[in-house]
Amino acid sequence: MIETKITQREFELFRVFIYEEVGISLSEQKMGLVQSRLSKRLKALNIPTFKEYYEYLKRSRDDEEMFHLISAISTNVTSFFREKPQWDYLKANLSEILGSKSNKKLRIWSAACSSGEEPYSIAMFLKENMADFRSWDIKILATDISKKVLAKAISGRYQGKDLEGMPKHYVQDHFKPVTNGVIKEFQINQDLRNLITFRMFNLINGDFSMFRNHFDMIFCRNVMIYFDGESQAQLVSNFHKILGNKSLLFIGHSESLTRNQKEYKTVKPSIYQKNS
Ligand SMILES: C[S@@+](CC[C@H](N)C(=O)[O-])C[C@H]1O[C@@H](n2cnc3c(N)ncnc32)[C@H](O)[C@@H]1O
Repeated sequence: MIETKITQREFELFRVFIYEEVGISLSEQKMGLVQSRLSKRLKALNIPTFKEYYEYLKRSRDDEEMFHLISAISTNVTSFFREKPQWDYLKANLSEILGSKSNKKLRIWSAACSSGEEPYSIAMFLKENMADFRSWDIKILATDISKKVLAKAISGRYQGKDLEGMPKHYVQDHFKPVTNGVIKEFQINQDLRNLITFRMFNLINGDFSMFRNHFDMIFCRNVMIYFDGESQAQLVSNFHKILGNKSLLFIGHSESLTRNQKEYKTVKPSIYQKNS
């Protein structure tokens, strides 16, 4: 018999585990959601109780199961050129941003990149909008906590429906059709893939001291919403240390930097510039 009701004590165990491992902060109101989502995992794995599922996760640290756990309480939803006003801002200000870079080096971090749509959008955007694109040294770091979404991101393969909403010529110019069995897919071109390094990185427990270079832009969108205020403030301070002077931080439209006002100047809603 597989349990379907989580006890308050079991919920507490998951709440602490999830907070410590990924920084996702679950309120009491999420108990019902956790119960219904995790009971599906109990069934899938044939584990009789929530407590045993918790013990399994803690003991094994099984990546695949951690992915299921994180997916059960948050979302990997993403899309190409999400948050349109940010791309409009970048387009209008790109020559000024590039003008301040005499070394012709551009370093960009897509933190919490999910299945890759965000870093590939950055790569396409730069190729489309930089007249002297080829003469620049461009590196995009793309990270996520989930190996599973990173594997999809690395493949660079998407279905036709994922590309809807993008200008038609972007699909023609930046993707090539490939087949996955009978399904037709589109794979992002190698020249853009070469700009991106994908890595696993936990924004909550990760070691920020490993970043030697300063980033010109950091995209950290639609993930901070899951963290509590303290973890958000710590993360945004960590970004401050590794952003270059006057460099930009892009966050999700429903997120804000209320606790870090001294470190950043608001450029537009959800776009911030590092104060020196
Ligand atoms: C909703 S997606 C956002 C994707 C993209 N940034 C966007 O705005 O479209 C959130 C991503 O955050 C990742 N994530 C959740 N907690 C994380 C953590 N502690 N460190 C790094 N990534 C995390 C998830 O795996 C998921 O892929």
